[in-house]
Formats: sequence, structure tokens, C-alpha cells
Amino acid sequence: MSPSNKKPIRPWCAVHSPVPVRKYNFRPGFLFGAATSAYQIEGGIEAQTGRGESIWERYFAARPHLDTGAIACDHYHRMPEDVQLMKRLGLKAYRFSVAWPRVIPQGTGALNDKGVDFYKRLVDELLNNGIEPFLTGYHWDLPQALEEKGGWTNRETAKHFGDYMHILAEKLGDRVQHWGTLNEPEVIVGGYLYDGLAPGRKEQHMRTAVAHNLMLAHGYGAQAVRAVNPNLTVGCTLNLVPIEPANKHAHKAARRHWQSNYSLYLDAMLKGKYPKVVLDEMEHNGIKIESGDMALINQKLDYLGVNWYLRMVMNRRGRIIQMPAADFTQVGWEINAAPFTRMLVAMNDEYKLPPIYVTENGAAIPDKIEGERVHDLVRMSYIHDHLNALENAVARGVDVRGYFAWSLMDNLEWSGGYQFTFGIVHVDRQTLNRTIKDSGYWYRDMIAANG
Ligand code: FCB
Repeated sequence: MSPSNKKPIRPWCAVHSPVPVRKYNFRPGFLFGAATSAYQIEGGIEAQTGRGESIWERYFAARPHLDTGAIACDHYHRMPEDVQLMKRLGLKAYRFSVAWPRVIPQGTGALNDKGVDFYKRLVDELLNNGIEPFLTGYHWDLPQALEEKGGWTNRETAKHFGDYMHILAEKLGDRVQHWGTLNEPEVIVGGYLYDGLAPGRKEQHMRTAVAHNLMLAHGYGAQAVRAVNPNLTVGCTLNLVPIEPANKHAHKAARRHWQSNYSLYLDAMLKGKYPKVVLDEMEHNGIKIESGDMALINQKLDYLGVNWYLRMVMNRRGRIIQMPAADFTQVGWEINAAPFTRMLVAMNDEYKLPPIYVTENGAAIPDKIEGERVHDLVRMSYIHDHLNALENAVARGVDVRGYFAWSLMDNLEWSGGYQFTFGIVHVDRQTLNRTIKDSGYWYRDMIAANG
């Protein structure tokens, strides 16, 4: 396929699409954007870049049959072209993450000037093209040097994260307003429970220690950004998977699962305490909360980032069951937008939520390539249905300020490799050429219709 930036500006028109383009009842200034993360798109890990090793290089080295992020989308070398792509899509905002080992190769100590310069250029490019940068400090790529000192099982890692965020805020705080500390602590914890994510350790007894250290990292990170400039907007992104009981006998199991995996973070950040089930687990494993920890974690949250992909249904024995009539994406996630509204409204009732940004939402759908076009009707309708669901949540009182499609482009779906495509832009794996998919054109027209 030829590079997408050589194509005429309107090769496809959403008017002919079965998925309507319309104006949503969102607040003025609502931001429509797209999201990516460093390791999934950047590549650029060769020695001349000065980037240090992350836990993912080590993880993939031990699993040679898997795809790696060594090249990924080569975004590190194609960044200006990618920002032009965002501009063609009419994005108002772009959520990206900074690779900690690119900026501080050993996790602590010396900076890599080339890395700092890369993110400065990215942010400048975004701002020059009218796109609001949303920076995430940590999207799963821990410097390997810190993993060797225990990684997230070590409380010191949280402090190092605070120092790293301080440096980022000093370097970029003059041009980035929206800051996020962590992406999806619950999934980061998964890297210490099972093999599917780096570092791939299996230490169930460390679950709550890792979770607590991540919450501390959020606290130190938010504090560090505010120390540089108290007017910056600081939040944290959680993945939230509502667990719906299959029937009345399953209520207890479903509630317990939600509390120990999701209330854990929500209660800590928004109420300054952990749910009882989490405290019991901490006690069982000898995990200590030090004085001042909960106040650090419970500091003001300017926004909560919500990554939403699916709900799950649980039976009384705590097993996840699949609904027989449901549709599923390539990664086996149920396609169903209505629970998204229910979850946001229930959370707002319980916590009186801060402003919400949907920092990720999207679907892995096989694309159909036909000449210069990439058809992905299911992805288009997935995004459409979720925007409708979001609008319903807004109508029921939830303060939502923006929505980021996951993802700007097809990329490395971690240990799942490149076979699972989430992008609204196709990336040819041989040439790395980018081609806007039908869903991308639909998204562009929808953004334009929303002014
Ligand atoms: C989320 C991750 C993101 C991507 C999507 C599909 O959990 O934050 O990096 O892998 O899932």
C-alpha cells in the first residue's frame, strides 16, 4: 500500500457508512483523541538512541517465538509523519507514554539527552499542529536495572518513579498540561502473577505489595509534578472491568472480585483506604502500610482515566462465563457497550468521581484490505456504540471530558504480538506504511461533526 499521506483528503465518506456520524451531547471543549504507548509503537531501541533496557526486551529474549517491540511501528524515527496522520484525522488530543528507560536508561541517575529531546520534539510537533498532549509516565516498560532490584515488589521503585516524574515535569511541564502517572496498575500487577506480561514472575503472595507500591508511585509521581507546577492537571488511568453476577447466587463472588481487583485502586485514590478484602490479603502476606502512605495516595486527583474494553460475567463459584449470544473481538473480549454506562453511573454514585477521561477504548478486529482501503466496520460500530454509551453516562451525571480511541495505529499487543489489530490506522508489517482505515475516516468525520 502507498503511504497514507499521499492520498487525497476524502477518499471515503462516512455518509455512505451504515454507522451514523452525529453530534453528541458532550460538554463544550470535549476532546476526541487517540492513544498509544511507548513500547508498543516506538521501536528505536538500538544503541545509538541511548535508550536503556526495559523489562520487555528481557521478557522477549526468554521467549524467542514471540514478536517483539524492537521495531514496532518505528514511531521513534517516523514521529513527524505520525503527527501529520493525527492531524489528518482531526484529533484534538493524543495520549502517549514516555519510556522511562529512554529518558533514564538505568531507572535512576544519568539522563539520556536524546530521549528527552525526542519527547520534547513530539510535544512541540503536537502543539504546533493543534493537538493537546496527554502524557503518561508509566505504561509498563520498567527499566531492567530496577527490575533487578526487585521491580515493583520493591518500595524504592515507587520513590524512583517520583524522581523520574519530577524530571519529566521539569523538562516538559512548560508545554504539557495533562499528566497521567500510571497506566492500569491492575495489569502491571499481572506481570508479577503470571507469564503473559513482563517481567513474567509468578509471585501471588506479592500481589498486594506490588499494588501498594504502584499506588505509592502514583502518589510520589503526582506530588512531583505538582512540585514543579501546581497548576498542572494530574490523573491516573485504571482499567476497569465490571464483574456482573450471572444470577443472585453469584453476587458475593462478583463483588469480591471487583473489590479485590478494582476497588483496591479506586478506594485507595478516592477514599484513602483499601477495601477489607485487600487489607486481609495484606495482613496474610505480611505487607505493611506505613504512616503517611494513604494520605500520599489519596491526594487530589484532577481526573480519573478510565480504560474500558469489556465487562465480565461471573458465576457463584467465581468462574467467568461467556454469554452464549454475545460477539467477541479477536482477543476474546465481549462486545457490549451498555455495561459501560452502568459502571460509570454506579461508580459516580459511590465516589462522586472527579472529571473522567476515557483514556482507552477500542477493539481487536480483523481488517479486510481491498486495494487502498482497509475495511473494519465492526471497529467503527464498536466505537460508535461506546460513544453512545458514554453519552448516556453523561446524561446520568458523570462528568466526562474526553475520549481516546485505542489505538491510533496497529501495534504490538504485548505478548499477543502483531496479529491483534486495534488501530484506526493500518500499519503494513512489511513496509510499515500507514493507511487510515474506514473507522479512522469515520472517526475523522465524527470529530468534525462535533466541531
Ligand atoms: C490495555 C493496554 C494497552 C493495550 C490495550 C488493548 O490494557 O493499556 O496497552 O494493550 O489494552
